[in-house]
Amino acid sequence: MVSIKTVAVLGGTGNLGPSIVRELVSAGFTVTGISRESSTNSTPIYPDVVAIKKVDYNSYDALLSVFTGQDAVVSVIGTAAVPSQKIAVDAAVAAGVKRFIPSEFGINTRKVRDLPIGKILAGKIGVVDYLQEKAKENEAFTWTGITTGLFFDWGLERTGLGVINHQDKTSTIIDSGNEKFPASTLAQIGRAVAKVLQHPDETANKYIATSSFQLSQNELIAVVEELTGQKYPVVKKEKSEDLNKAGEEKLAAGDWRAFIDFLRAYNNADGAGNAIKEEESANKLIGLEYEDLKEEVGKWVKRTQASA
Ligand SMILES: NC(=O)c1ccc[n+]([C@@H]2O[C@H](COP(=O)([O-])OP(=O)(O)OC[C@H]3O[C@@H](n4cnc5c(N)ncnc54)[C@H](OP(=O)(O)O)[C@@H]3O)[C@@H](O)[C@H]2O)c1
Repeated sequence: MVSIKTVAVLGGTGNLGPSIVRELVSAGFTVTGISRESSTNSTPIYPDVVAIKKVDYNSYDALLSVFTGQDAVVSVIGTAAVPSQKIAVDAAVAAGVKRFIPSEFGINTRKVRDLPIGKILAGKIGVVDYLQEKAKENEAFTWTGITTGLFFDWGLERTGLGVINHQDKTSTIIDSGNEKFPASTLAQIGRAVAKVLQHPDETANKYIATSSFQLSQNELIAVVEELTGQKYPVVKKEKSEDLNKAGEEKLAAGDWRAFIDFLRAYNNADGAGNAIKEEESANKLIGLEYEDLKEEVGKWVKRTQASA
C-alpha cells in the first residue's frame, strides 16, 4: 500500500492554490510550496508551516532537486503555464515521486478532445496523456486527474457564474436554464485533493470527478431569490448555438476568450449532459461529502450584504 506524507504544491499561490494548501496542511501532510523564481506573491499566502522553495519551472535540474523527498506533487499552476508541467512530470518521475496531480480542476478534459473547446484545452489534455505514458513506463509513478466543474464560490463572487447580475438584480440564462452542471467550492477542491492523497491506491492512474453539487441556472436564480427576498428577473436569454458560433469566430481569429463562450455553452446547453452522475462521481470513493447549494449561496449573500 502506497503512503503519501510529503506533498509539493506548484503554483499554490493563485485563486485555487491556497485552499488546496490549507486543506493539505489541515489533513496532516507536510507541504512544500513551490513558486516561480519571478513570483512575488508566495510568502504572505502560505501558512507558516509550509516551506517555500523558488525555482525556474523550465529547469529540470531545479525541479528534480525540489521534488526529491516528496511523495506527491500537486500542480495548481495557472492555465497559461499548463503545458510547462511536462518538465515537472519528468522531474517528478526521476525524483521518485509516487503521485502527480496535474492542474485540471475544471471541466472533464478527457471528454472534450474532439470539441472546439478541446483545442483551447489541448495543453491540459496533452499533460494527462503524458502522465498516462509515464505511469505505463514506471510502475512506481502514478497520477490522478480531478475534474471539479466550475469554481462555485469564486465564480459566484466574480461573475455571478454568468447567471446572476448582482449589480442590477437581474439574471441571464442560456437555453431553458434547466440543464444541470457540476460545481465545487474552492475549499471542497482542497478537500478532494487531500482525500485523493489519503486514498492513493483507489485513485491511482485515474481521472476522477468530484463536486460540491450539481445545479442548473434556474435553480441558482431560485435560491438567490429565496435567500435575498428579491426578484432577479431573467432579462437576457442566450442560445447555446449562438455562443458556440461566437466561440468559433473568436477561435478562428486567435482570440482565446472563445473559451468563455464555449464553456458557457458546454455547461448550460439543453441536453449537454455534463452533470456528474452518482455512478461517475468519486465523492464516495474518497469519502468526500457533498455540500449544500443553499448553504453556499447563503455565505455569498451574507458577504455581499456585509459589503453593501
Ligand atoms: N473550474 C473553474 O471554474 C476554474 C476557474 C479558474 C481556474 N481553473 C483552473 O484551476 C487551475 C488553477 O487556476 P488558478 O486560477 O488558481 O491559477 P492562477 O491563479 O492563474 O495561477 C496559479 C499560480 O500559477 C503560477 N503561475 C501563474 N502564471 C504562470 C506562468 N506563466 N508560468 C508559471 N507559473 C505561473 C503562479 O504561482 P507562483 O507565482 O507562486 O509561481 C500563480 O499564483 C488551472 O488549471 C485553471 O485552468 C478552473
